[in-house]
Amino acid sequence: MRRDAGPGTAGRGAAGGDAAARAGRGFVALYGLQRAGDLRYVFSPYRICPLGAHVDHQDGVVTGMAIDQGVVVAFAPRADGRVRGASADFPGEVAFDVRAVPPAVPGEWGAFLGGAALVLQDRVTYGVDLFVLGQLPIGGLSSSAAVAIGYLLALEHANTLQVTPEENALLVHRIENEYVGLHAGVLDQSMILFARRDRLLRLDCRSGAREYVAFGTPDAAARPPAIAIAYSGRSEALVGTGYNQRVAECRAAAARLLELAGHEIPPGGARLRDVPPDVYARYGPALPAPLGRRAAHYFGEQDRVEAGMDAWRAGDSVRFGHLVTESGRSSIEKYECGAPELVALYEALMATRGVYGARFSGAGFRGSCLALVDPEATTAVGQEVRARYLRAYPQYAATFGFFRCASGPPARLVIPERHSRGHLPREVP
Ligand code: GLA
Repeated sequence: MRRDAGPGTAGRGAAGGDAAARAGRGFVALYGLQRAGDLRYVFSPYRICPLGAHVDHQDGVVTGMAIDQGVVVAFAPRADGRVRGASADFPGEVAFDVRAVPPAVPGEWGAFLGGAALVLQDRVTYGVDLFVLGQLPIGGLSSSAAVAIGYLLALEHANTLQVTPEENALLVHRIENEYVGLHAGVLDQSMILFARRDRLLRLDCRSGAREYVAFGTPDAAARPPAIAIAYSGRSEALVGTGYNQRVAECRAAAARLLELAGHEIPPGGARLRDVPPDVYARYGPALPAPLGRRAAHYFGEQDRVEAGMDAWRAGDSVRFGHLVTESGRSSIEKYECGAPELVALYEALMATRGVYGARFSGAGFRGSCLALVDPEATTAVGQEVRARYLRAYPQYAATFGFFRCASGPPARLVIPERHSRGHLPREVP
């Protein structure tokens, strides 16, 4: 990743390839050098989702990739079943026994560690000491799912459990929905666990079917757009925002449409995926506000996903970017999310030459925008977007960040080759 313009979040080290070494140093500072020989690492990447926003919880079809930036968990197994954890990004240490996981405290960073221990509780006897850090500022990049996967992989390794990525994706869903209280879909963990470098992944959140698509045809030597993350300077927790309310509105819209068409409501409750497009075409106009807008976002977004896959396959950055921007507009106008800062950042990106397309990254209540940028123009784009955005929000001058990233592989465990005392790897491969 390259930082192209402006300083990052105050108090965070420069993001870069030394994240594992920093995590290792954080671990040693807390738990002592005598444990350093047992250190292992999980690298759990952030995800982007250019098209298919806010549809995963309705079992829709999404697109995404993992990027080369993410969360690093440095950990060492413990035979006594204790779990201790600390974070570079939040104060306070979390400590409990794997056989007696405390209830989640809403908004606490340690909730995801407790949740990971809880969903594995029947299968684990070993605990871990761990230290976690994130490479980019928090918000919109799926850091929650990334840390949840980091903790799961650490506990599974400590207990020599064989768990498939498919099962881990379900475990993250349980952590978020049952323990933390966020009614999220499967987008984040699926991208983090199933991504392939330089491929756009199309995921059907209902069937789980995955399709990986390269940009352009091999003979045309098409160059994909550069991936940039523009951080607004605003980070705040997702539970307590309108996230769960929007999920409930989508489900109410689905139930109403099925009722109007005289269809049965599925036993688990209705989702927009249960509504055939022709039923939506016929009864959509009868939906009351704001349910009509939520359904309009869902069906529009599903069309954009399919058009976007075609554009990606054809190597058409302009067309793909245009669809991403339309998706962003639909998130603002029809899904009605987007903190004011994120809307301003989106507008700043739209007004900047060299940006093919942009939208909020993630739920849109905080954090970052994703931009797809002409690879030759990223530095100039970063400077211009920074200047435009800070004209509206000068208070974020110290925290705004513009990061050029690349597509990357999925979450993985890294065991240093030499487990000598004090040996720390320099870089996560
Ligand atoms: C957050 C959630 C995801 C998804 C996105 C919006 O990242 O965790 O499940 O709903 O928002 O697409």
